[in-house]
Amino acid sequence: MAHNTKASHTVTLTDNSNGKTIELPVLQGSIGPSVIDIRKLYADTGYFTYDPGFTSTGSCESTLTYIDGDVGILRHRGYAIDELAENADFLEVCHLLLYGELPNATDKKQFENDITMHTMVHEQMRNFYNGFRRDAHPMAILCGVVGAMSAFYHDSTDINDPNQRLISAYRLIAKMPTIAAMAYKYSIGQPFQYPQNDLPYAANFLSMMFAVPCQKYEVNPILAKAMDRILILHADHEQNASTSTVRLAGSSGANPFACIAAGIASLWGPAHGGANEAVLKMLNEIGDVKNIPAFVAKAKDKDDPFRLMGFGHRVYKNYDPRAKVMQETCHEVLKELNVQDPLLDVAQELERIAREDEYFIEKKLYPNVDFYSGIIFKAMGIPESMFTVLFAVARTVGWIAQWKEMIEDPSQKIGRPRQLFTGIIERPFVPVDKR
Ligand code: CMC
Repeated sequence: MAHNTKASHTVTLTDNSNGKTIELPVLQGSIGPSVIDIRKLYADTGYFTYDPGFTSTGSCESTLTYIDGDVGILRHRGYAIDELAENADFLEVCHLLLYGELPNATDKKQFENDITMHTMVHEQMRNFYNGFRRDAHPMAILCGVVGAMSAFYHDSTDINDPNQRLISAYRLIAKMPTIAAMAYKYSIGQPFQYPQNDLPYAANFLSMMFAVPCQKYEVNPILAKAMDRILILHADHEQNASTSTVRLAGSSGANPFACIAAGIASLWGPAHGGANEAVLKMLNEIGDVKNIPAFVAKAKDKDDPFRLMGFGHRVYKNYDPRAKVMQETCHEVLKELNVQDPLLDVAQELERIAREDEYFIEKKLYPNVDFYSGIIFKAMGIPESMFTVLFAVARTVGWIAQWKEMIEDPSQKIGRPRQLFTGIIERPFVPVDKR
């Protein structure tokens, strides 16, 4: 870990106000930009660093996921995302993220079995749903119910017990599809469907979403495969906003269910996981390819807050490798379901126009993972309000693997950033009748 990583060299910081210098060690990971270790900066100089949005800050050391945004690389534990999406299934990727290795055949069977044994939720949790309005956003329900897991699974909230940490991870991965599907069923007034443990993970999720007790439901294997691939594509993404939220919440020693609920809240925003829902809304608003230029102009207008949803990324300054796989999956699903969606024409034309436009080229704005996923979900019959929920189901493994890595890091400390204070320094209290 970083506390053991040897400095490759130092950089010298000179304070021009007094000529004092300080040597800061530079640490080199296995790949990627080196980091300047500023942990002693405040103690040695009295200065903080200032980096709102953390554009230049590495907040932790991690071995899970590597991204090179300039060339569009995403790897989990060394494996390229497109190879994983093509050749592995979601639970293998979960094993990879949690344990560092793809499972062999025996471990794979064991892992699948262990996860599957946890798919049901405590029966009492069903009552929880009745407290929500039927028109509640499923992300609101997800946030509440996942947070409430800490009230149901006390036997896996001791973060100092490695076995309990693992069980909480298994429970979260296993129960998230159940909780998400229940949120959907509740919103449409259909009975909850129990998990079918003879089905693979993604197929089981589709079954809980779409089966009803009065008729047999056959999972379409092509759609199950597509759903599995979508889960893989969203499984982890380094220190993004929701993952950093999970780590920060967990750094105080909070239990894993509460931390994941915090991650879900962060994911909900339209600049993050909420973008997939926003993309479909935008495509619907555009409606026809002839309206695209007006929307592109709006996106470029500095005085207009509108942005092209599904475009741009803090890290990718090239094509998001997940978007490529997503685009292929989109074509496969639409073909299988024989759907001619005019929104796909709008999306493809929008991508073409934006990619030839100077503004988008200069700012390196490419389609991201959310650009095509909404069209796939829509074709599968999943309502827009569930899109970000699906993202959360998939990202749960990334969140919990990152949380586990943090707890198991001996150099772990409570996350406590400082600030540049610009408010009023001090003033005497004024009684209410004198204000
Ligand atoms: N449409 C138009 N202009 C944009 C867009 C966009 N989608 N994204 C960025 N820009 C412009 C932005 O106005 C800024 O221009 P200027 O330098 O003239 O001020 C420049 O590009 C840099 O943008 P930024 O906001 O400083 O970049 P950021 O790294 O803070 O934001 C982002 C990244 C993803 C929040 C942003 O690109 C965005 O809002 N995209 C749309 C929402 C979206 O699709 N989010 C999903 C992200 S991928 C899934 C996930 O990981 O959650």
